[in-house]
Amino acid sequence: MTASSLIVAPSILAADFSRLADEARAVEGAADWLHVDVMDYHFVPNLTIGLPVVQSLRKATTLPFDCHLMIDDPRRWAVEYAEAGAYNVTFHAEAAEDPVALARDLHAAGSRAGLALDRDTLVEPYLDLLPHFDTLLIMTIKAGFGGQSFIPELLHKVRVARQHINAGHLQVRVEVDGGVADDTIEACAAAGADAFVAGTAVYGADDPAAAVRKLRALAERAIGPSAEPG
Ligand code: DX5
Ligand code: ZN
Repeated sequence: MTASSLIVAPSILAADFSRLADEARAVEGAADWLHVDVMDYHFVPNLTIGLPVVQSLRKATTLPFDCHLMIDDPRRWAVEYAEAGAYNVTFHAEAAEDPVALARDLHAAGSRAGLALDRDTLVEPYLDLLPHFDTLLIMTIKAGFGGQSFIPELLHKVRVARQHINAGHLQVRVEVDGGVADDTIEACAAAGADAFVAGTAVYGADDPAAAVRKLRALAERAIGPSAEPG
């Protein structure tokens, strides 16, 4: 893992929904991905945005979209997000009947595939599936709402995944999502995460781009100079 390979992904869940295009552009040049939380009021108790919003927003920013589907039966919708131009489409292990088949469908549609684990889901049963995925999203809260408190115990799953990657068994990006902020991102990076979703910490700040840069600097510092490029 190198500092230059760290991904910071602001979550538009914390943005002003009446100005989504402006809010996306506000982090261009600072962020790596734009995290889009899709919730269906079934898999999680909240309802957010869906495919038409992603299709419209895709035209408004150059940032790659990291779509996080918190929906039942992701097979019904996931590929359409890939076809809408998402860079990465992540669905939940708890909701998918055949995660590997869906990962293949996403790759065939031209996107990367991510597997998400909610708060109460262990990582070990999914390690064998991860070679089929590009991204492992580990929730650091219970999925469903922004602005919740980070749960440090969940970083155990990040450490397990990172150990398997370091041992050469696995190549996957390890993304953390939920409560990631100035006071928690260093612990995430030290545990082995290399992609960081941040909603409130970015869009709750006066200057969202500066907030992204600060988060990145903190994460880089936490992984240490030995991991710096060059
Ligand atoms: C919650 C979402 C998160 C959310 C994070 O279920 O998956 O992406 O936007 O928001 P913060 O950073 O405010 O915890
Ligand atoms: Zn998310």
